[in-house]
Amino acid sequence: MEHKSVLLEETIANLDIKPDGIYVDGTLGRAGHAKALISKLTSGHLYAFDKDEKAIEESKEVLKDVLDKITFIHSDFSNMQQELMQLGITEVDGIMLDLGVSSPQFDDPERGFSYRYDARLDMRMDQSQALDAYEIVNTYDKDSLITIFKQYGEERYASSIASAIVKARNEKPIETTFTLVDIIKSAMPQKELNKKGHPAKKCFQALRIAVNDELSSLENGIEASIELLKTNGRLAIITFHSLEDRIVKTIFKKYSSAPFVEPKLPLLASQMEQASFQLVNKKPIIASEDELNENNRAHSAKLRVIERIK
Ligand SMILES: C[S@@+](CC[C@H](N)C(=O)[O-])C[C@H]1O[C@@H](n2cnc3c(N)ncnc32)[C@H](O)[C@@H]1O
Repeated sequence: MEHKSVLLEETIANLDIKPDGIYVDGTLGRAGHAKALISKLTSGHLYAFDKDEKAIEESKEVLKDVLDKITFIHSDFSNMQQELMQLGITEVDGIMLDLGVSSPQFDDPERGFSYRYDARLDMRMDQSQALDAYEIVNTYDKDSLITIFKQYGEERYASSIASAIVKARNEKPIETTFTLVDIIKSAMPQKELNKKGHPAKKCFQALRIAVNDELSSLENGIEASIELLKTNGRLAIITFHSLEDRIVKTIFKKYSSAPFVEPKLPLLASQMEQASFQLVNKKPIIASEDELNENNRAHSAKLRVIERIK
């Protein structure tokens, strides 16, 4: 399955690419954003991360004509500072993160990300990682399952779904996505099953986030990016759900707000310390009508961009 890059032009435009700059793509995927970014470079270079080895292998083919302008790194983007340091890079002109799974991952029946295909419970972006969805579903205690479904899926029926999972796995291990879908459905009231949208959507999202530790990676990845940016360097992040967007919004706000000063202190405006970053757009950028008509994934996408100003 082809991956249609979301908010492609908006991301590239807002990164304000310098042709001789050093850039990072934390989420290479199928190299849609990477290819567009590289096309703006002359002597510049792109360092591209993906924790999925397959994404890197397939992107090498997409980028075969510009391999001198890119370095591939098979790692979580939260490790970017250490990984780049080993290559002698301590600061960069821009970084982009296009979060979540790609269409080829989601639509690969064998990866177990989707409730639409029957597959072993896997959901690992990085297939060299030990923890998978099978282990969480079959070994985590009931309270941990409830926390995962509530916190990462905002699932209203978290408690009854976790009980149904524990009961089912006492009989025999829960091996596949379809078995899990049936268990989730069995724990929901009929009126919920009649609603639009797949009943297992929230739990599958929650498990995927837990397997890949996505929210910790995001927080650590933003902090690492902030430290790596040069003055006038920009960080652009595309999120796909409210949990991700809330993290980006909160951390961007922290860095773009002036440090707190006791209101009674007799300071002139010129003596007040300014924030080191500014938001490039006050509101997140969302997809155009045209893109929404062409790409279903774009519906929940939000792009936020921050710039280091000193
Ligand atoms: C939405 S896709 C990116 C698509 C890409 N921008 C394109 O245009 O083709 C997300 C990719 O990032 C990878 N990914 C997600 N979280 C990651 C993380 N924390 N570290 C490294 N790679 C990650 C996934 O494996 C997936 O290949």
